[in-house]
Amino acid sequence: LPDTALWRPALHYTPSAHWMNDPNGPFFLNGTWHLYYQCNPDGMVWGHTSWGHATSPDLLHWQEQPVALPATQGHDIFSGSVVYDRDNRSGLGTAASPPLLALYTTVFSGDPAHPDGTQAQSVALSPDQGRSFVPHEGNPVLTLHPDSRQFRDPSVIWYAPGKYWVMTTVVADAQVVKLYRSTDLLHWDFLSDFQPSGYRKPGMLWEMPLLIPLPLDGNDHDLRWVMIVSVNPWSIAGGSGVQYFVGHFDGTKFTPDNLPQEGADPAAYRWLDHGADNYAAIRFANAPDQRPRLISWMSNWAYADKLPTSPWRGQMTLPVSLSLRSDHGAITLQQNPAPEYEHFAQAHPGRNFTARRLAAGASWHLAMKSSVQDIAVTLKSAGRGKAGLVLRQSADGKEGTRISYDFATHLLTLDRRHSGKTGFSSNFSLVHIAQLAPRNDTITLHIVVDRNSVELFANGGDLRMTDLIFPQENSNDMTLFATGAPTLADTLHVADLAP
Ligand code: FRU
Repeated sequence: LPDTALWRPALHYTPSAHWMNDPNGPFFLNGTWHLYYQCNPDGMVWGHTSWGHATSPDLLHWQEQPVALPATQGHDIFSGSVVYDRDNRSGLGTAASPPLLALYTTVFSGDPAHPDGTQAQSVALSPDQGRSFVPHEGNPVLTLHPDSRQFRDPSVIWYAPGKYWVMTTVVADAQVVKLYRSTDLLHWDFLSDFQPSGYRKPGMLWEMPLLIPLPLDGNDHDLRWVMIVSVNPWSIAGGSGVQYFVGHFDGTKFTPDNLPQEGADPAAYRWLDHGADNYAAIRFANAPDQRPRLISWMSNWAYADKLPTSPWRGQMTLPVSLSLRSDHGAITLQQNPAPEYEHFAQAHPGRNFTARRLAAGASWHLAMKSSVQDIAVTLKSAGRGKAGLVLRQSADGKEGTRISYDFATHLLTLDRRHSGKTGFSSNFSLVHIAQLAPRNDTITLHIVVDRNSVELFANGGDLRMTDLIFPQENSNDMTLFATGAPTLADTLHVADLAP
């Protein structure tokens, strides 16, 4: 395969070579962000699942590190999380040197103690601040009886009111999240199942569950809980994607607020992302402030092993920060690029344009210097027309990724059918559509463009769309357009984020 350096992202983590899927156990400690991930150290497709490792001072510039938790004969290493046990409750460290523990899934094969294919939760201790992890002697620490074959993806949070840890895991093919508690990270007691009626399909897998407390409208006295679950396939944009539920957690049980009726359209459920390339979202543990930051695998199981990049395959999304906003009783998870990204982007002043009126049928072309871009625009329609922009556009105008908003139907569309190379999978070249209510007849779009991706945050983070694209190297320009009615492009900001 040719080297495809033109698609090596500038702002998103990629391994130097080989396959990568889910982010695992991200955390912050002593000024360094750590990111682990499912990798195949030997190949360009999924297999030999191990935990690769990268570190960063700022969540944007990553340094690849040696594999931290390798697969060994008969033991593959699936996804999980890392806990900084600052009070040494596990007893595996000392008060002066608190232990750093990985909680992950071991997949057993050829081991007389476990039927082949058993998936069970294990613990590993890092002797060197996260550079490597050594599996605990008593592994696995949690097995499901009588059948532990699809039991995986432990994610652990400290539940302060009860002074214990809560682990969320799944039985993937039963589409159930199982909650456990522990005071030492080694012994786990069952708490409850989360298995809401709702959007299910035979054969759908539930993976990578996460439980996150968030203040509603910034009010620390009104804590709500968000359950995030990755589902594959049949997600909103096709293939794999991430669902979320907002509700309450009482220390034992998560109870979601008003779920749609059984059999409702998938669009009636809550999706973390309406694009195709966001899966296995996970939270950074031990962040220096209380703000939850998420990172996801920027890919889709529907075509992940066909992506045309080389010598690596797989990349992460930007880290995003989360908040909860209520509006007339409806609560929405808001996602925006993490503060570390905003800080970085602000160091690239870019160009600001004052309001410009686009007549119906008019367009406004802007040349960009690089393919790494930050774009923010406010659009206001004088009627019920459509408006939007074409990104990563070629000089002849034939290639481009089109984002369009319909002020009559309130549908936002991301069309990557002409975004560049698309033919490697028939599942790739689709149009992604989502409902977005305007605010005062206005929508705002914040878009981060990288060498092979578009990340869109609409209306202050109410809606997110993440899509990979594979354009030609020099397709850098953008065009704003209006059709059907005049549109006001207010406060357009564009910045090149790389030379
Ligand atoms: C999600 C997933 C997880 C599993 C891992 C294996 O993409 O299937 O459920 O732990 O990938 O690589």
